[in-house]
Amino acid sequence: MIRYLTAGESHGPELTGITEGLPAGLAVSAEELSLHLARRQKGYGRGGRMAWEKDLVTITSGVRFGKTMGGPVSMKLANRAWEKDAANWPVTMSSEPVDEEIEKITLPRPGHADLTGVQKYRFDDIRPVIERSSARETAMRVACCGPARLLLKALGVEIGGHVIRLGESGYESWEHIRKKTDTVVGQSGAEALFQKADESEVRCLDPELTERMVEEIKRRRKEGSSLGGIYEIIVTGLPPGLGSYVHWDRKLDGLISQAIMGTQAMKGVQFGLGFESGGRDGRRVHDAITRDEKVPGGFGRETNRAGGLEGGVTTGQPLIVQGVMKPIPTMLDPLGTVDIKSGKAELTRYERSDVCALPRAVVVAESVIAPVIANAILEKTGGDSIDEILPRWKQLKESRL
Ligand SMILES: Cc1cc2nc3c(=O)[nH]c(=O)nc-3n(C[C@H](O)[C@H](O)[C@H](O)COP(=O)(O)O)c2cc1C
Repeated sequence: MIRYLTAGESHGPELTGITEGLPAGLAVSAEELSLHLARRQKGYGRGGRMAWEKDLVTITSGVRFGKTMGGPVSMKLANRAWEKDAANWPVTMSSEPVDEEIEKITLPRPGHADLTGVQKYRFDDIRPVIERSSARETAMRVACCGPARLLLKALGVEIGGHVIRLGESGYESWEHIRKKTDTVVGQSGAEALFQKADESEVRCLDPELTERMVEEIKRRRKEGSSLGGIYEIIVTGLPPGLGSYVHWDRKLDGLISQAIMGTQAMKGVQFGLGFESGGRDGRRVHDAITRDEKVPGGFGRETNRAGGLEGGVTTGQPLIVQGVMKPIPTMLDPLGTVDIKSGKAELTRYERSDVCALPRAVVVAESVIAPVIANAILEKTGGDSIDEILPRWKQLKESRL
């Protein structure tokens, strides 16, 4: 089974990651992993750091001559902030004790892990919490999930995401979104979706909505506020039968939810119609079954309102999952807080920050679900090498009841 760990602080020298459980013989390159890292850095509403922090991952083990060797793949990513502000960060974030007095951060920012973090770890300085809870870590997460994404691609499973709501601007209905995505995903698969969405500054397929979203970011920036929103991720090329209904911790929707909810600032996940299904009658929710030889397994659906999963198991239809991201907590217009040292009521201090990180978060969400889906496939096929997996995968895609 594929699993990964990241290490590193936002202003430390580098981020480190290890992904293990990858089959041998999978083509993996730093260049391909960096592709999604570059995508994670683009999007209207980003802050200053993204402009100069160019993420290029280095693979330090587990890959030889461009192919995995079955062992752990380790990666590192430099934090340019460390070199850029060399008089500050190597001292502030020194792993060795230092002689100088380093100023403590004592004003917790609402919406961040600042206060809960110091309460948990009993710090008198918020710096260690900020450093690790920061979404800078998602850069390494995208890198760590990259090999799983490449494995899926080798099997013809594609992942693509787009923004469907940003603040007050969004599609009117589920059907409206389906119309937009169906024409893009169509025959070619979900990568076409992200490629098309990447043409928009806010990763939205609709040009008119894009304009409204950009205007909204401008307005909230002027007001000193911030924005979040909702994105949708589609996965194509999955056969029926991945995941299981037999236990709560084997349901594929449950496992995908954890990967998304484990990402900074995510506040909800839904599959297919999701929350909207609670307000509709059953005939406008469930998807009638048809015979369709074009679909792996031979059964199709008249609609895909379930989002490609029933009973925690894939149906053979595209998997559709949506996630909601809260607005960025760091805002120019301050919020009330309390100094943890003096106990006095204060206002938060502004630090360099994005106004809206939603377009960037789409890439993180696309990435974190890749190992979950790859594991559901590996559970079915088994296999220690890509050569073993490919014929078993072909058999699985062609199997009929
Ligand atoms: C890709 C990405 C970029 C983010 N960038 C920022 C940022 O620039 N400023 C900020 O205050 N929060 C940012 N956040 C959000 C915080 O990381 C998040 O609100 C915080 O970790 C607490 O979230 P939680 O309550 O869900 O754990 C970002 C989140 C993501 C996923």
